[in-house]
Formats: sequence, C-alpha cells, structure tokens
Amino acid sequence: MKKITILDIIKMKAEGQKIPVLTAYDYPTAKVLDEAGIPLILVGDSAGMVFAGYKNTLSVTMDEMRYHTKAVAKGSKNALIVTDMPFLSYQVSIEEAKKNAGLLVREGAEAVKLEGGLIMADTINAIVDMDIPVMGHIGLTPQSVHRMGGYRVQGREKKQRKKLLNDARAVERAGVFCVVLEGMPTDLAKEITETISVPTIGIGAGPYCDGQVLVIHDVLGLYDDVQPKFIKRYANLKESISTAVNEYIDDVKKGRFPGREHSF
Ligand code: KIV
Repeated sequence: MKKITILDIIKMKAEGQKIPVLTAYDYPTAKVLDEAGIPLILVGDSAGMVFAGYKNTLSVTMDEMRYHTKAVAKGSKNALIVTDMPFLSYQVSIEEAKKNAGLLVREGAEAVKLEGGLIMADTINAIVDMDIPVMGHIGLTPQSVHRMGGYRVQGREKKQRKKLLNDARAVERAGVFCVVLEGMPTDLAKEITETISVPTIGIGAGPYCDGQVLVIHDVLGLYDDVQPKFIKRYANLKESISTAVNEYIDDVKKGRFPGREHSF
C-alpha cells in the first residue's frame, strides 16, 4: 500500500471511488485503521466526548489535539492524517489560526480541519497559503452547539439551504481539498456534492456524498452516551470488554490467574 496524500483523496472523487474515513485518537487504533486500508484518519475533536467524557467539544484544547495527533501519527504509515482545530484555536485571529495549524502539522498532521463556511473563508485561505491543506466542515458544526440550540439537522428551510450552498462554494473557493457535510438533508448534500469539485465527506448527510466519516467509538460500540440516528455500529466492544474484564476479575478472585505459564 502506498502513502495517501491529498491528491489521492481528490482523485478518488474524480474516479468515482467512495472515500471511507474514520476517527482515531491513539496509537493502537490508528495502527489498526491504517493496516485495514483506511485512506484518511481524522483526529477529531470528538475525542473530547468519546475519549475524555466531556459533554461537548468546546473544552478540547490545542494541547490535547497535539497529544492525540502525535499518537495517531506514530500509528499510521499510509493514511492521510487530518487533525481538527479545536474551539478557540482559529476563531480569534487569522494569525493565531496559522500558528495553531502549524503546531498541529509539527505533531504529524498532514492537513487540518476547521468548522464554518463563508465566515471562515479568509482563515482557510491563509492556512492554505502556508501550504497546509485544509478540510472544511459545514452544516451541523458541533462547536456551534449553543448557537444551533443543540445538535440539530441544518438546512431544512429554504434560507438555510441557500446559506449552506453558499458556504460550500465559499470553502471550495478558499482552497479546501475536501469538505465534511454534517447533519443535513440528503438532497442538499447531494446538490452540494454535484456542485463543488472537491470531495464531500458526509456524516448524517445521506448516501450521495463522495465519502463517509464516522467516529470510531460509535462504529465499535464503545460509546453510548448519545446515539444519533446516522450511526451504524459494526461491533459491540463495550460488551466484549465487559465480558473480558469480568472473566479476569473472576480468575484473580478464584486464583486461576496467574497460572504456571505466566509465572517465573
Ligand atoms: O470531531 C470529529 O470527529 C468530527 C467528525 C465526526 C466529522 O468532526
């Protein structure tokens, strides 16, 4: 397998190949995803919720994202690594955004992702001008949870729909190499996907996007604090871990572990 770059991701849309994306926050998970052939690993700020147990992504810091990025970069050989810019790391000024994007690249990110459409176009453009590729993220943007009044599907009304189409065109013009479409009606995501030239990566945005992204803890059944409709669970690791831990407790209590084979 060869090292994936942003050019390969862009080419996948041109060739009509779907793009599977998963999140990872640590070395062993990144290694498994990479070896399975995932072309793009997102070090998402969803780490704040599924890894650290925060109630939303707003408390995630640059230090935390740097730490996760370093671990994921160590575990991944071929996948393209994209790291989320956390809340407050890019909104205050373009200068701060550029510096923080650079710090994530120093830890091993090969691109950064930030939330927002037209309003973020100049920031995206400034980061792209530093030769750091940017992934856009529009629609339901979790860092805007308080403005949205919760995690609500965006773009159901005509005015909002027009705004999201404009946002998609604005981030494309600003130079993103691909864009996440989160929490929007299927037909709107389809229209955006057919309108812009860069790949769209959907989450809760229906089947017509060029790729799909899910949070690894949701896919593996490790996190059930919230369970949106768009999640598909492929394993139940919570149950597997619980069974294993109970067996271990039982073995220790009953003196079955350690056995001769584990002893010196
Ligand atoms: O933080 C994250 O994991 C994300 C994806 C779910 C798109 O932004």
